[in-house]
Amino acid sequence: MIWKIAVSSRFYFVRVLVLTGAGVSAESGIPTFRGKDGYWRNLDPAKLATSEAFARDPQLVWDWYRERRERIRNARPNAAHEAVARLAQGTGEFLLVTQNVDDLHARAGITAEKMVRIHGDIFVTRCSRCEFERHEYEHPPPPRLRRTSEQEQEQEHEDVVPRCPKCRALMRPGVVWFGEQLSRNELERVENFLDGGACDVVIVAGTTATFGYIIDWALRASGDRGQLIEVNPEETPLSRFATRLVREPAAIALPRIVDELAN
Ligand code: OAD
Repeated sequence: MIWKIAVSSRFYFVRVLVLTGAGVSAESGIPTFRGKDGYWRNLDPAKLATSEAFARDPQLVWDWYRERRERIRNARPNAAHEAVARLAQGTGEFLLVTQNVDDLHARAGITAEKMVRIHGDIFVTRCSRCEFERHEYEHPPPPRLRRTSEQEQEQEHEDVVPRCPKCRALMRPGVVWFGEQLSRNELERVENFLDGGACDVVIVAGTTATFGYIIDWALRASGDRGQLIEVNPEETPLSRFATRLVREPAAIALPRIVDELAN
């Protein structure tokens, strides 16, 4: 049974979990990791997004991330991000867990407390040794605002690997690389939400679900009675558990699904 509560003449689901991956940003022009456009300079992203690659060639890894940052800055949220934001607004208890390090969900209007960015944030630059981190401007500020010493330093070394202003170690992007631990804080936020009870609806969109925790969270959240909807043009390891499979691009399927859920 699907539980809804009436709020100001519309129906809203009580608890909804949405899990997203790179496919949701594909229609904004951000290449997925494992798709045909994912390769960069003939290199496999799965091999670039590792601490081993960074140790071997930090310049190469930074070049890749700088290009991705630029692409994301120039991209716009698509209808899939907007549909998820609409669902978040109309739902009593809602959590989005995204593996995407872009900021397109946030720019579509999801607030930080309704979103866990389980693989980090590409616009954070953090020290590989100490706790220092900074948020890079998402859109370059006008030139006259640029002249603080730290920004000046960064600007001068735009094409090299940044160093920590505190301890001089190499700085790295604030994302989780393959083989690294997930943030304890963010994991706790997911667990707290799951502890709050089963969800009426769980939507898993645009992810190959290669990480066990994605499948685990989807199954735990949907429990015995929740809908588990997968949105993905391709089959994934999660498909066999889904109560509904939508084999369409996310920007087409999600707006329709959210409309259906609201009616
Ligand atoms: P992947 O690149 O592995 O998978 C993208 C998924 O999106 C595939 O299953 C596609 O079939 C699907 N897809 C492609 N276009 C789509 C569209 N328009 N609408 C809906 N689905 C579409 O990306 P993720 O599953 O997000 O982790 O990858 C998970 C993680 O692996 C990433 O966060 C990253 C990566 O390595 C780390 O960096 C730790």
